[in-house]
Amino acid sequence: MSKKSFGTTSKGVEASLYEISNAKGMRVLVTDFGATAVSVFVKDKDGNERDVILGYDDVKSYEKETCYFGATVGRYANRISDAKINIDGVEYQLEVNDNENNLHSGSHGTSERFWTVKEQKDDEITFEIEDADLEQGYPGNAVIDVTYKVTEDNGLSITYNATADKTTTFNMTNHSYFNLNGHASGSVYTHTLQINAAHFTPVKDSKAIPTGEIAPVEGTPFDFTEAKPIGRDIEANDTQLHYGSGYDHNFAIDKTAPGIERVATAYAPESGIQMDVLTDCIGIQLYTANFIVGQEGKGGVKYNNRDAFCLETQYYPNSINETNFSTPITKAGEKYESHTIYKFSVR
Ligand code: BGC
Repeated sequence: MSKKSFGTTSKGVEASLYEISNAKGMRVLVTDFGATAVSVFVKDKDGNERDVILGYDDVKSYEKETCYFGATVGRYANRISDAKINIDGVEYQLEVNDNENNLHSGSHGTSERFWTVKEQKDDEITFEIEDADLEQGYPGNAVIDVTYKVTEDNGLSITYNATADKTTTFNMTNHSYFNLNGHASGSVYTHTLQINAAHFTPVKDSKAIPTGEIAPVEGTPFDFTEAKPIGRDIEANDTQLHYGSGYDHNFAIDKTAPGIERVATAYAPESGIQMDVLTDCIGIQLYTANFIVGQEGKGGVKYNNRDAFCLETQYYPNSINETNFSTPITKAGEKYESHTIYKFSVR
């Protein structure tokens, strides 16, 4: 475990950058600003280290950005229609920050604030944040923890724990943008992807609120049940792809058992790096970085759309308002828990 400065914010607050690693040499850098994953270094098929997530070199860039690179998004990831929720018959107004909707909890979400370090070891770090009642619009004073751990089998394990003193909603996710050839490698079209999902949740229009339907992927560009290159169908003439400007959709995971299991696998033939996604979540958002244009990232590299993909594990988007979806409600004093592992290997 090492710690160094990650620069200061526009308000002069110093951020820190922590390194956690395992005995095999897999290293992960995380900052206390947004409990954000900044770099994930894994070895390719020739034993060379590659940084497989997009990011920036200092906290000021994270403060300014709108892409959520590597961020811990909460209390509620993804979109909420009309930026309103209703819990126990009471309506709560959230920030309107994406058309008339709320996206990733707005400008005071957990990705936009400092977290405190609760515990640190060589291979893991736990951050904690306190979220006051109605601070982001959600009911209840809440305490949220996230633990990043580099496992001995080269996994980046991310665990969320949260409680609140009122009945509320939690739907935490990590927003890492992966490029398994390395963050500066350009398009991910040749990466293959497989997702254990026979269904996805189509959206109403380009504002990306789901219709409520859980539709079959069969015969559509959304069929990733067998591994295929990400670029194979992405330019297809398909209404849903037009709405998202590419993939920006939630897949309904075909769970085979309760608890954590492998739900998706991505693979980059050039580097030989494979990433398995294991989670206990029921949904996973595939986002192919459609809205990134010339974003200057680590080492001055310019990132563009389709230079990465996100696999954000979560409840389905807008599930808090959509009666057809499983609703994430955490009762006062009860524990919200969620666990995802991005596991790396070479072929
Ligand atoms: C959303 C995209 C959004 C991106 C950055 C993703 O989770 O699905 O629509 O552009 O986050 O905010």
